[in-house]
Amino acid sequence: MKTTAAGEPVVVDDFVVTDHEFSRFTAFVHRQTGIALNETKRPLVCSRLSKRLRHYGYVRLRQYYDHLTERDPTGEELAHMVNALTTNKTEFFREAHHFALLRTEILERCATANGPRRLRVWSAGCSSGEEAYSIAFTVLDGLEDAADWDVRILASDIDTNVLALATRGVYAANRVAGVPAALRERYLLRGRGPSEGLVRVRPEVTRLVTFRRINLRDEAWPIRAAFDAIFCRNVLIYFDHALQRRVVRRLAEHLKPGGHLFLGHSESLLGMGPGLRSLGKTVYAKVRGGEHR
Ligand SMILES: C[S@@+](CC[C@H](N)C(=O)[O-])C[C@H]1O[C@@H](n2cnc3c(N)ncnc32)[C@H](O)[C@@H]1O
Repeated sequence: MKTTAAGEPVVVDDFVVTDHEFSRFTAFVHRQTGIALNETKRPLVCSRLSKRLRHYGYVRLRQYYDHLTERDPTGEELAHMVNALTTNKTEFFREAHHFALLRTEILERCATANGPRRLRVWSAGCSSGEEAYSIAFTVLDGLEDAADWDVRILASDIDTNVLALATRGVYAANRVAGVPAALRERYLLRGRGPSEGLVRVRPEVTRLVTFRRINLRDEAWPIRAAFDAIFCRNVLIYFDHALQRRVVRRLAEHLKPGGHLFLGHSESLLGMGPGLRSLGKTVYAKVRGGEHR
C-alpha cells in the first residue's frame, strides 16, 4: 500500500484510498460494467468520484463502496457512479472512412437487394449521439428514395447522462465541424436568438434513431433485431480480453449474414472473431453461413 511519510494511507482528491479499498472497488466496477481499471487509473478514478463522495460527506472510498453495495437498493447511486467513471469522448464522423464504407458497401448492397427495403444499424456505446447521427446522415443521404425505406438506428450506452444529451440532439456549433458541409445544411438547424451558437438535429433524422440504456456487460441484451451494420467503436478498449471476446461473439450473433461490424481504430479482432472476415481498417463482415455459439 502507498503511504505517506507518516505511514498514513494515500489521500487522493481529498478522500482516503488504501490499496485494498481500491482493488475491491475496481472489482465491483468490473462486475457491474465490464470496465477494467488497473492501478495506473487510480488518480483518474479518484478525481472522477470525488464529487460523488463529497455529495455524501464521505472521506474514505470504503464508505462509498459500502453505500453502493448496502444502501442503494434502486441502483440510483450506481448510475451516478457509472456516469462519473465512463469516458465519453466522441465526435461526428469520427474515423470518417467507416462512414464512406457504410455508404458504398452497405447502402449499395441494400439498394440492389430484392428483399424488403429495410435497414437496421446499431451504434453500441453511442456516447452523446454523434456516431448515431453520423450514421443517420449517411444513410439518408446515401439511399435513393430514402422516404420509401424502413430505416431504424438503435443507439445504446450504459451512461444515462450521455443518453439524455443524445436524445436531445442539440450540440454546440463548433462540435459539428466534422460534418460535411452539404449534410450540415440538410440535416442540422442553426439556433437563433438565445440558441445562437447551437445546432439541432432535424426531426427527420432524430425520428430514425432510438436511444436506449444497454449495458454490454449484461448476460442478456433486450434486442431481437438482426442488423445490417453494428458500430461498436472505442468501447471494447475499456474491457478485458475475456469480455471483449464475449461481446464480439454476441455482436456477431446480432448481425445479418454479410452484415458489417465496425470497431475503433485500436481495436482488432485478432483471434477473436470466428465467422467474421476482415475488410481492413477494423471493419469485419459476417461470413455468410458463419455460425456463432
Ligand atoms: C469513448 S466512448 C465511444 C463513443 C463512440 N462509439 C465513438 O467511437 O466515438 C465509449 C462509450 O462506451 C460506453 N460504455 C462503457 N462501458 C459500457 C458498457 N458496459 N455498456 C455499454 N456502453 C459502455 C461509455 O459510456 C462511453 O460513452
